[in-house]
Amino acid sequence: MTSFEFPGEYYEIMRRDFRHLDAETEFLASCAPPGGRVLDLGSGTGTNLRRLGELGYSCVGVDQSASFVEYARRAGGKGVEYVHGRAEEFGTNRRFDLVYSLFMTLNYLPHDQLRTLLETTRHHLAPEGRLVLEFGHLLNFVESYQQHTIAHHRTDDVLITRLTRQSVNPHAATWRNEETLLVRGADGRVAMYDNFFDQSVLTGPEVRGLLTAAGFTVTAEYGGFRAEPAPGHGRGPLVIIAAPTAEAAV
Ligand SMILES: C[S@@+](CC[C@H](N)C(=O)[O-])C[C@H]1O[C@@H](n2cnc3c(N)ncnc32)[C@H](O)[C@@H]1O
Repeated sequence: MTSFEFPGEYYEIMRRDFRHLDAETEFLASCAPPGGRVLDLGSGTGTNLRRLGELGYSCVGVDQSASFVEYARRAGGKGVEYVHGRAEEFGTNRRFDLVYSLFMTLNYLPHDQLRTLLETTRHHLAPEGRLVLEFGHLLNFVESYQQHTIAHHRTDDVLITRLTRQSVNPHAATWRNEETLLVRGADGRVAMYDNFFDQSVLTGPEVRGLLTAAGFTVTAEYGGFRAEPAPGHGRGPLVIIAAPTAEAAV
């Protein structure tokens, strides 16, 4: 289960502390022809799509959070369309040059739905299209596990205090995150939001196996969006580029 129902502007503030948007944009742009069609699965507040829209790509984003889609639509973006819904239920006749899912978003799907999503995604891709996935895998979860954390995220006007609780279900191979966000806004008032999500714990071989079964061939793997080599010990993010396998392309 996943919520992500809190104001998108606060997500944007926290995201800046975790991510390198310039590196992500450059990496994604290098995977699609100029002006190509792009689909973002779990597009959140539209951060990546706004940038790609500015570069001339024709963009569609799908996200299950009503609050984030509302924020994304309000924030606009040239040539960007947002669909409110679950990625695994998204249907279209359009074919995309690039489909991507960043920031461990596909980990929010249970294993069986992930497989279905990848199979559907193959049909959304043009024959020469590319799929870019950033996965959280087993060692990311193990290394970052802390029962309780407190973190602060701020701008000149806003202070967000994030209280996180994590628990693991070893039988289901899922990780539960529960967060309480205390936000002190520009007017000095404090608001509180709850956010929670379950993530599937996957290993590199499991992800590659799911991609192969869904009709993809992995063409490259990196340890980040600056094309860092995927570390041999398996720690750190796993960024995978995959292409439709020739005989599976439709
Ligand atoms: C950590 S955020 C990442 C958002 C965006 N990709 C980014 O990089 O900022 C995870 C996003 O996945 C979305 N999400 C989770 N499960 C989803 C699903 N089954 N279908 C569509 N969106 C989903 C959440 O609503 C949330 O916006």
